[in-house]
Amino acid sequence: MTTTVRVASLADASAIAAIFARVNPHECDHAAHEGRVREDIARPIARVTAAEDNAGDLVGALVAWHVVDEVTVVDVAVSPTRRREGHGRALVEELLVWSRAHEKRLVLLEVRASNTPARTLYAALGFTEVNVRRGYYADGEDAVEMHATLALLQASAH
Ligand SMILES: CC(C)(COP(=O)(O)OP(=O)(O)OC[C@H]1O[C@@H](n2cnc3c(N)ncnc32)[C@H](O)[C@@H]1OP(=O)(O)O)[C@@H](O)C(=O)NCCC(=O)NCCS
Repeated sequence: MTTTVRVASLADASAIAAIFARVNPHECDHAAHEGRVREDIARPIARVTAAEDNAGDLVGALVAWHVVDEVTVVDVAVSPTRRREGHGRALVEELLVWSRAHEKRLVLLEVRASNTPARTLYAALGFTEVNVRRGYYADGEDAVEMHATLALLQASAH
């Protein structure tokens, strides 16, 4: 299965919102998710990307915000029925490539301590766990802060 990662447009907002809403159904309804996605697509400091499969179906999405030399992964999700096909990796890898090309220094994120799939994916791409934020989420779960320092990733790639 190959993945094509491309910058999302407003026409993708509903499909992307559907993926995020399936991951976070308790957060808000589809319309609110779509509103957030539309805002991010229009936000100058945001970068929203979509992953498409061989058939051109939108199967995953990533939202990142970039300020000066730092990039924060705000959300990334793959449709529940399409996981373990490499789409999540493709989305994060593409963000790392874009970040290097735009001379960013650091890519950072927070992930639920219990989220083994995401923690494993980020670690496989060179992110390191730098801190634990106790009780960070509304339900009391801890967040793990992870960083990818781009100069270090580049150096280790040679
Ligand atoms: C995290 C997520 C985006 C990964 O997407 P995905 O397309 O399934 O991931 P990939 O197929 O690209 O997997 C890449 C690597 O990540 C790791 N990984 C992915 N899912 C895993 C799982 N369930 N258990 C352990 N490792 C896992 C593996 O190292 C995997 O490589 P491998 O398949 O060669 O072993 C997906 O599980 C998801 O949408 N989760 C819900 C939303 C979420 O938690 N987002 C992160 C918020 S911080």
